[in-house]
Amino acid sequence: MAPARPSLLRSLTPKGLFWRSLLILLIPMVLLQGVVAYIFFERHWDTVSRRLALGLTGDIIYVMRTMQKYPEDEFREWTLRAAHREMQIDAVFEAGAKLPATAPKLSGRNMDRMLHHALSERLVIPFHIDTRRDDRNISIRIELQEGVLNILAPRKRMFSTTIYIFVLWMVGTAVVVTAIAIFFLRNQIQPIRRLAAAAEAFGKGRSEVEFKPAGASEIRQAAAAFIDMRGRIARHIDQRTEMLAGVSHDLRTPLTRIKLHLAMLREATPEAGTEISDLESDIAEMEKMIDEYLAFARGQGAEAPVPVDLLALIGEVVEGARHGGGAVRLEAVEALTLPLRPNAIKRCLTNLVDNAVRHGEHIDVHARRVGEAVEVSVEDDGPGIPPESLEDVFKPFYRLDDSRNPNYAGAGLGLAIARDVARGHGGDIVLRKSDSGGLCAILRLPL
Ligand SMILES: Nc1ncnc2c1ncn2[C@@H]1O[C@H](COP(=O)(O)OP(=O)(O)OP(=O)(O)O)[C@@H](O)[C@H]1O
Ligand SMILES: [Mg+2]
Repeated sequence: MAPARPSLLRSLTPKGLFWRSLLILLIPMVLLQGVVAYIFFERHWDTVSRRLALGLTGDIIYVMRTMQKYPEDEFREWTLRAAHREMQIDAVFEAGAKLPATAPKLSGRNMDRMLHHALSERLVIPFHIDTRRDDRNISIRIELQEGVLNILAPRKRMFSTTIYIFVLWMVGTAVVVTAIAIFFLRNQIQPIRRLAAAAEAFGKGRSEVEFKPAGASEIRQAAAAFIDMRGRIARHIDQRTEMLAGVSHDLRTPLTRIKLHLAMLREATPEAGTEISDLESDIAEMEKMIDEYLAFARGQGAEAPVPVDLLALIGEVVEGARHGGGAVRLEAVEALTLPLRPNAIKRCLTNLVDNAVRHGEHIDVHARRVGEAVEVSVEDDGPGIPPESLEDVFKPFYRLDDSRNPNYAGAGLGLAIARDVARGHGGDIVLRKSDSGGLCAILRLPL
């Protein structure tokens, strides 16, 4: 299959619902107005111009014929005065004159074309038209046998103002309709934006955001479904956490009992010392796991997100690791305050830093803003994790070969818990090879 090319049309289409809806509304309107305007120009405008041209031509020729019929001075005077009074035409006769050889150029406008056409239909003798005078008049000069008849007619006799009114109304209504559409569309889009924001906040673990269904029925329906779903997920998480805490807590009592029995057994049968020691170390491991579970369950439980100074929190974790003997360097530039569950995040960071301290000698912790998120990276110079295991180590109880570090047996829950916390905040943790060959764990949290 050929690779899909992003089509020009798609790249030109706006992404947001608001602009798309506006386009859906405006395109037909502009098209409609275009078609109407075209028809108007084609038919109405042409017809009107032609009628006006014929009217003016008729008047001019009437004056000309009357003058030719009654050439005596007194009649001519009378004819010219009548033309001025009744037809707004100023006519002057230049006896013995001739038209210049070259005619003024026509302007190419509809008005010129129509007038020229109408006059040539009626006159076989030479004439000149000039519509480009400064005095709002059109000059028409006709060469008669005895001289030239100079006529000045007001340009508005050739002009219909309907075109301006038409365009004005068209643009005016378009502007008003667009303004109304923008106003209503904004109100329609608002509830969708709020729904999206609520869903995003929930994804980031900030489910306390106040949100009520509003807007059109479909949007209300989606909002109600979202609120239901949010409730179900929250209940599900609560249930899981409670169960984890309950089971872990209840396991402690029998373990304590076993420990007591073992201590008594050691006294009764000193020859079974090594077996009993093995059992005791197994029990210690189980207790450690249970502690982890409990700590995790507590962190995940009722804690509510509050604005937290992330740098201060990282500082505490790093300080704790230094007390434990780790060589940890902290580098952070700007203050980063965002809504977080502080204990859970502290646990997540502690797990990452503890791992680094356990496997490496020098640890670098960086915190910085990357776009709309915060990234905290923990880098060490230890043996690292082979690429094929980078995802597996997130699985609960998954541990790499214990022989690498025989002094320590972790529960294998550290990274699983850390990732759970990160995802509960809408973020994630990724692992990669660090520059010094060790492991680099990056915690990403959306702002
Ligand atoms: N910085 C690191 N360098 C090398 N290997 C690591 C590093 N961090 C984790 N690992 C490997 O990934 C495995 C899983 O880590 P995880 O933190 O989940 O468990 P753990 O450290 O063994 O036990 P826990 O954290 O529960 O005490 C570890 O057993 C270890 O082999
Ligand atoms: Mg660990």
